[in-house]
Amino acid sequence: MQRNSNRPLVVKIEKIIEETPTVRTLVFSDEIFSSVLPGQFAMVWIPGVNELPMSVMITLEKGKGAFTVRKHGLASTELYNLKVGDYIGMRGPYGNSFTIKQGKLLLVGGGTGLVPLVRLLTFLKKTDEVTILIGAKTKEEVFFEKLANQLLENNKHQVIVVTEDGTYGKSGLVTEEMEKLLYEKKFDAIYTCGPEKMMHKVVQLAHTKKLHVQASLERMMKCGMGICGSCCMGEVLVCKDGTVFDGEYLLSNKEFGFTHRNKAGILENY
Ligand SMILES: Cc1cc2nc3c(=O)[nH]c(=O)nc-3n(C[C@H](O)[C@H](O)[C@H](O)COP(=O)(O)OP(=O)(O)OC[C@H]3O[C@@H](n4cnc5c(N)ncnc54)[C@H](O)[C@@H]3O)c2cc1C
Ligand code: FES
Repeated sequence: MQRNSNRPLVVKIEKIIEETPTVRTLVFSDEIFSSVLPGQFAMVWIPGVNELPMSVMITLEKGKGAFTVRKHGLASTELYNLKVGDYIGMRGPYGNSFTIKQGKLLLVGGGTGLVPLVRLLTFLKKTDEVTILIGAKTKEEVFFEKLANQLLENNKHQVIVVTEDGTYGKSGLVTEEMEKLLYEKKFDAIYTCGPEKMMHKVVQLAHTKKLHVQASLERMMKCGMGICGSCCMGEVLVCKDGTVFDGEYLLSNKEFGFTHRNKAGILENY
């Protein structure tokens, strides 16, 4: 099925899944958004409020697309508060996707950064051995643990939850757990999405072991299609050249993990 990604589409919210007290998944019908590649995103229009970039979440139903939103500022809270039967607009899908490797794979995600990683799980082969590290601040912010186990039921797999305050799963940062895992096990590829500081550490750790690593970046996005420049990271546009980049490239980019642009386009430190 073909459609111009830049042509806005309006869909009705058909179902809402409560993931945590601050995170909800909104489900709608659309063939194209039901089958995007892992790492691709949409520009979601909340009528009368704003347009936000959102990774496209999977659903377990054919022909359905979804977004998993954490309520944060004005626009994401308005999106989070929508009800079944309300309408949202969207453009896309935009961006590239993860290169899918085979073998022993490690996925490291934090918060809604888990969305493209969960989609990646649906592209893996049954012969892949998969370890997924799910990072959260505290027990009540953990989500997608059950879904990840369900999607991986036919693979040799391990879903490891790490909370910063130790209220659930392992205690500490996902990157600390990753460091331990890299000593214990061998991996063929690593994928990550989440806060950029976390991804920077993941890429550095993978690099020390000379492992293939890719990260899906979240930068300030306004047009989502390579025009406005608000998502630039050095010479690249995250919306158009990414969102997925190889670790080797990222470590050569002086902005990655250190600075990003705010809504006014001004460079700020993380
Ligand atoms: C490719 C991509 C995928 C994303 N996927 C998800 C997702 O699946 N689920 C989810 O909840 N969030 C996702 N986000 C983040 C989301 O777009 C918003 O940043 C976030 O919801 C806060 O928006 P706000 O306007 O409510 O908050 P505000 O209070 O207005 O802003 C809070 C912070 O959010 C970030 N932000 C705000 N507007 C934008 C914007 N237009 N582009 C990028 N960052 C912005 C900035 O860091 C800002 O400081 C994604 C971002 C990108 C770039
Ligand atoms: S968001 Fe406009 S160029 Fe990337």
